[in-house]
Amino acid sequence: MVDGLFYFLIWVSVFFFALISGILTYSSIKYRRKSPDQPAASNVTHNTTLEVVWTLIPTIIVFVVFAWGWKGSLEQSVAPANALQYRITAQQWNWSIYHPGSFSPSAEMWVPVNTPVKITMDSKDVLHAFFVPAFRVKRDVLPGRYQIVWFEATKIGTYDLFCAEYCGQDHSRMLSKVHVVSQEDYDAMPWDEHPDDPIEWGRVLYRVRCFSCHSDDGSPRIGPTFKGVWGSQEEVTDENGQTITVTVDRDYVRESLYEPQKKIVKGFETAKVGLMTTFSRAEIPDEPEGECELDAIIEFLKSLNN
Ligand code: CUA
Repeated sequence: MVDGLFYFLIWVSVFFFALISGILTYSSIKYRRKSPDQPAASNVTHNTTLEVVWTLIPTIIVFVVFAWGWKGSLEQSVAPANALQYRITAQQWNWSIYHPGSFSPSAEMWVPVNTPVKITMDSKDVLHAFFVPAFRVKRDVLPGRYQIVWFEATKIGTYDLFCAEYCGQDHSRMLSKVHVVSQEDYDAMPWDEHPDDPIEWGRVLYRVRCFSCHSDDGSPRIGPTFKGVWGSQEEVTDENGQTITVTVDRDYVRESLYEPQKKIVKGFETAKVGLMTTFSRAEIPDEPEGECELDAIIEFLKSLNN
């Protein structure tokens, strides 16, 4: 419907542009003044038929556009009752996508083909916007208010999901994918899968959770780099403003995820104003020890020391 209306508007514009400029050009040549002393042929003041026609036709077109847009707008606003329910939380600078019945978020989205999908969205911090151009849907995502968007994907494939609201330094990296898969593939719950190798699993989590602010190559971003950080001694400012030295071990990594403001590495005091995302245990579980997301991230950190 979006495309139909869009192309209708384009072709109506093309048609009237050609018609009006065609008549204009033709008349300018045909009825031009042929010698400097040629008198005016007549003095036309108006033409009632012509004026009625060029008022009536555009009015009808405007009403067609209105009715078409109104219907489309209504359909976009109200999700079908049988739609699959998703939750999305946006934050600087990633998307947490909760699939139906799943309590842990994933960074990419999987939907079954030919099935309506309804997403309830909110933001943890600033304005973002959910935008999948291929599905012709875009909706602002706001803190403190739920926003709804829905679509029904009709072609299997992978599509880009953008943040379409300038939301800070790494807005341009706030990207994700929507995978449209067959019902069988969807039933296998691909969002629940993670690599068997803990380092690879950690790398996936890093890409989703940490990469915007922490590099893996030694270069500073908003936060300190992860390269060589595991096991190192770091000077940090604690809650009381004291400078202390900590060893980057499991406990420190854990605390930094769940209570990032507690110990802030020297030189990154801007993080005090709440820049570092606070993760919950649901988002990055710390148990069972040795087989959870936290340990996968630690394995990834260790791998960066080599
Ligand atoms: Cu989020 Cu731009």
